[in-house]
Amino acid sequence: MHKKRVFSGVQPTGNLHLGNYLGAMKKFVSLQDEFECIYCIVDLHAITNKQDPEELRKNVLETIASFIAVGLDPVKNIIFNQASVSAHSELAWVFNCVARIGWMNRMTQFKEKAGINKENASVGLLVYPNLMAADILLYKATHVPVGEDQKQHLELTRDIAKKFNNDFKSENYFPIVEPLISKEIPRVMSLRDGKKKMSKSEDSDQSRINLKDSKDLINQKIKKAKTDNNSIPSDINGLKNRHEASNLISIYASVNNIKVSEVLNEFGGKNFSTFKSKLVESVVEKICPIGEKITKLLKDENNLNEILENGVKNADLIATKHLKEIYKILGLTKFT
Ligand code: TRP
Repeated sequence: MHKKRVFSGVQPTGNLHLGNYLGAMKKFVSLQDEFECIYCIVDLHAITNKQDPEELRKNVLETIASFIAVGLDPVKNIIFNQASVSAHSELAWVFNCVARIGWMNRMTQFKEKAGINKENASVGLLVYPNLMAADILLYKATHVPVGEDQKQHLELTRDIAKKFNNDFKSENYFPIVEPLISKEIPRVMSLRDGKKKMSKSEDSDQSRINLKDSKDLINQKIKKAKTDNNSIPSDINGLKNRHEASNLISIYASVNNIKVSEVLNEFGGKNFSTFKSKLVESVVEKICPIGEKITKLLKDENNLNEILENGVKNADLIATKHLKEIYKILGLTKFT
């Protein structure tokens, strides 16, 4: 009934790493052949936490450069920043009035991010999922590629869509979105602790591979990555409770587009030093060209701004049309 359309949002961050690439961006690239895709840099979500203004501006540009460097086509897809399309904020307000306080209080991400001092968290952090629902539903997106950690927010998006459609007797106005969660996507973990996600907020730079790392640095980080004393198993059961080993193996599988079982077939019985050399080769081959492209793209800010502006124009066209329909459904007068 609704046209298939993919939407996803990514926080503007500088210094994207292998986890961002293998966990999200690689999937975005593969979706562009099959779907109409809209990718949004969610700068308004970013300010739910304190941001340095100059950093924020730079990070939006760096994120768009990274999108292009990994192979997203800015002509085929709509790539833009959230703050440029004001309908996102407007629809988020509407959803603040649709969603219930109880729904927000149940969000685990809010609880985690707010920490013990909930009273001191920004109101924006609490209603963050409503803005996310607005992002998606403003384009009537049907499919959203997200990680496990965002599943609950997607459930909320579905609840908001259902309640709106129902309350305003607009059956089927908003589609009920489907998450696109693929099993092959690895959760890339820290190189120093296989139980922690690879993250840019981790103090040690040794814990992650940044897209802009040099060949030598990648080599050094992987060689030093934590493993255990056993050799590589020949089947998946042998990876149980071996978090660091599992992580390196699933990185190898993902970078080479093969299954974990195939990696184990190839390396079963061998020691980690042999495997690590191969892993370095594969990661360098995949990541270094991307890093070089990001650096090159960042040298021409005008070009990046042009790409962004073009995406904004296309996003705004769809967003404005839908927002008008939504306001009409609600009985809100809007002269512009
Ligand atoms: N909350 C998402 C995250 O932190 C980012 C996001 C914002 C998003 N709006 C979105 C993801 C819409 C998918 C669809 O990863």
